Amino acid sequence: MNITKSKLRAKQSITVLTGAGISAESGVPTFRGSDGLWKNFRPEQLATLEAFQANPHLVWEWYDWRRKLIKPIKPNPAHYALVELEAQTEQFTLITQNIDGLHDKAGSQNVLEIHGNIWKVQCTKCQYLSHNSEVPIQILPTCEQCGGLLRPKVVWFGEVLPEKELETAKFAATHCDLMFIIGTSGLVQPAASLGVAGKQAGAYVVEINIEQTPLSNIADETHIGKASDVLTNLLS
Ligand code: APR
Repeated sequence: MNITKSKLRAKQSITVLTGAGISAESGVPTFRGSDGLWKNFRPEQLATLEAFQANPHLVWEWYDWRRKLIKPIKPNPAHYALVELEAQTEQFTLITQNIDGLHDKAGSQNVLEIHGNIWKVQCTKCQYLSHNSEVPIQILPTCEQCGGLLRPKVVWFGEVLPEKELETAKFAATHCDLMFIIGTSGLVQPAASLGVAGKQAGAYVVEINIEQTPLSNIADETHIGKASDVLTNLLS
């Protein structure tokens, strides 16, 4: 039996970091996989403030397309396994880079969305923040408070992460006994550094991915396999 099962049994404080891979089995495209989003679109054209300012129509059309894709999608067993794990664990924090809202949909309680959420929009004029699940969304969407142009409340390349979520994530990563890193390529900072910080702070780090990543070098265990298979097996 691998060490993770015994640590799980000990009901340690657990912090989880997830990436697009945990939603892949629900049908949400990842970013860098063989069929990843960045194979068909260029991040610089769509996922930067400059791109949005230059062509808000194009950027909103892309997010509208992703919202249409994600809206009917359901959480998969990997998401539900984390809900079960949270229920069994005293201290549990789920940090996600995903903006699809599937952890919430599955019932996870303590979720830190460090890259934002595709269902949230913010006014570029008055900063009013609201939830918008219209599919399709009116292009270009305007603020109900001031009429200003709305943007997706997601973190674009070159933008800073939400400070409160990031600080809480850093604390959770450096104050846990067991850290799972699930379905992330470990290429984007500062999210990827949370795994390193956890390891340096003494956490036992368990990576779950269908392939090795740069974070495999710091993980105590790397389980190569689909997140739903590995997690359901670990919790059985
Ligand atoms: N189970 C586990 N891991 C999987 C699965 C699966 N079923 N399918 C794919 N993976 C792994 C891939 O091997 C890859 O390592 O998930 C990872 C997905 O990596 P990326 O597509 O790079 O997604 P992510 O790591 O979440 O990207 C981080 O980059 O583009 C930005 O803001 C975006 O939040 C995103 C960030």
